[in-house]
Amino acid sequence: MRVYVTGADGMLGTALRHELAARPETADWPVLGVSLADFDIGDEAAVRDSIADFRPDVVVHTAANAVVDSCERNPGPALRVNVGGTHHVADACRRHGSRLVYISSDYVFDGRAPGPAGYNEDDIPDPVSVYGLSKLAGERIVEAVPDHLVVRTSWLYGGTDPALDQVLAAAREFLDGGRPRLIDDQFSSPTYLPDLASALVGLLPGALAVRGLLHIANRGRAS
Ligand SMILES: NC(=O)c1ccc[n+]([C@@H]2O[C@H](COP(=O)([O-])OP(=O)(O)OC[C@H]3O[C@@H](n4cnc5c(N)ncnc54)[C@H](OP(=O)(O)O)[C@@H]3O)[C@@H](O)[C@H]2O)c1
Repeated sequence: MRVYVTGADGMLGTALRHELAARPETADWPVLGVSLADFDIGDEAAVRDSIADFRPDVVVHTAANAVVDSCERNPGPALRVNVGGTHHVADACRRHGSRLVYISSDYVFDGRAPGPAGYNEDDIPDPVSVYGLSKLAGERIVEAVPDHLVVRTSWLYGGTDPALDQVLAAAREFLDGGRPRLIDDQFSSPTYLPDLASALVGLLPGALAVRGLLHIANRGRAS
């Protein structure tokens, strides 16, 4: 399988590339990871040409502005990446008949009335933030790709770069004697990046016929 990963240098993109390289059954799959250093996903021609050149069987689209506060402060650039960029990726996948796996978020829900086990795939999204709205718009765009899978996940941790992983950054600050500022009135299911990467790699082959929408997160909840 030829696998194309957007956002390849981000937290999830990095974990995915590690997982693909580590598994004996995927280690020899051609993988192309692209990031902002390669091209801006808001550039339609760049996305189209890159996907046309590589001819992927599956595209895992992780690239996004995933910084919720930044999306709220600067909605224009955030929507350009999260909605416009997703549109370009989806369009290229449709042209090339590639399977598209899109990473979405628990932020598509308003958080007011989760069931006892959290939200499930049948719950109706109702985002209250620019970020959540942009991820939901991405989902709707991706649904137009015949072979698509939308994976909603939540609160990723277990990365290696404190500039990206807020849990790692807070832990380091705490150990250094600092007092990290943390949010204590928000709850979700923290999800360990290697666990998510492992689940995703298992879902890449379209032959498994897992299509549509899936929630993938670790069990439990935390503030
Ligand atoms: N982090 C979470 O807790 C969480 C929870 C639920 C869902 N998600 C979703 O999971 C996905 C991955 O999140 P993550 O935490 O791995 O994010 P991340 O670490 O911020 O990585 C995002 C990646 O997107 C790339 N990117 C940003 N703007 C771009 C642009 N204009 N053109 C091309 N590439 C661009 C970044 O490139 P550079 O490295 O070059 O900046 C980076 O590689 C996202 O779709 C996010 O919405 C994340």
